[in-house]
Amino acid sequence: MTNTIEITKAQTSKIHEVDFENLSFGKVFTDHMFICDFKNGEWQQPEITPYAPLTLDPSARVFHYGQAVFEGMKAFKDEANKVWLFRPEDNLLRINKSAERLAMPEFPKDVFMEGLKALINLDEAWVKPGFGNSLYIRPFVIATEPAIAASPALEYKFLIICSPAQSYYSGDVRVLIAEQFSRSANGGVGFAKAAGNYAAQFYPTSLANQEGFQQIIWTDADTHEFLEEAGTMNVFFRINDTLVTAPTNERILDGITRKSIIQIAQDSGIAVEVRPIKVSELIKASKSGALKEIFGSGTAAVVSPISAFSYKGDVFEIPKDEKSFSSIFKEKLLNIQYNKSEDPYGWRQSI
Ligand code: COI
Repeated sequence: MTNTIEITKAQTSKIHEVDFENLSFGKVFTDHMFICDFKNGEWQQPEITPYAPLTLDPSARVFHYGQAVFEGMKAFKDEANKVWLFRPEDNLLRINKSAERLAMPEFPKDVFMEGLKALINLDEAWVKPGFGNSLYIRPFVIATEPAIAASPALEYKFLIICSPAQSYYSGDVRVLIAEQFSRSANGGVGFAKAAGNYAAQFYPTSLANQEGFQQIIWTDADTHEFLEEAGTMNVFFRINDTLVTAPTNERILDGITRKSIIQIAQDSGIAVEVRPIKVSELIKASKSGALKEIFGSGTAAVVSPISAFSYKGDVFEIPKDEKSFSSIFKEKLLNIQYNKSEDPYGWRQSI
């Protein structure tokens, strides 16, 4: 299949043990993984091997300083059983941007694309057809050098693992607007998919969970007045018939689904405002009835309607609308991803 990637196939497949109708997100992994080591200042021979645990020295820097970045992407199968990726080069660009911020080496695009496609080809049976079914792909880089000095590692591993997926959230999502905790600050790593960004959210999110909210909408660290993004998603607000979302900046992740939705909305003739949005504006819009929808977007979450938000103890329910923007965008996006419609943007890529 390839001249440059060394492939060792799994002797048996685990696929028959998997209940594809009842998948929990990210718990089951395919038969193979892609792995490439960085040492002596360069990336070494890339390999695809059977999916297996890694052996790492306990002093590997990733364990001590969290020098780790990741991506989330998906493969989809169409009705003719052809497999498609969605904007894969954007993920490579973003993981390299994240890596640069964490003083990690960039990964070469040609090796990434070749490795990714070879891996998905090998585990193609794990990509199930049908809307809602996909293969979630998780590229990640970790600092493996055994040394606990607090400085960038000299050795890394770049891996890609894959997990068959259905929806990330099982129903509508209720969110809490952050009043005290922050996800990121100016000059920090909020724009990067740094592993630690997510770890830092777990505690405040677990407090929100106890109050019955699945996610937090983060506000700016300075004033807590501006709405930024939710834990696993960027967020959109529909105020009357205008779609509003916060601009990406050094604190907010430049979501690939987010920018796809902005494009789809603009091309559908919907007014889109990418601008700072205040919590007070949201509350005012909710009270006056101008707030029609809130939804999140992300690779894992796709387009997830938010049914209520809470702020300073008050809960604001959001009315349900059969013709919601979120359902229109989701359908248009899925149609492109599953090769059910034209792809005027060139986002879809066959493997
Ligand atoms: C994704 O949507 O791919 C993400 O990276 C969110 C993740 C934390 C589940």
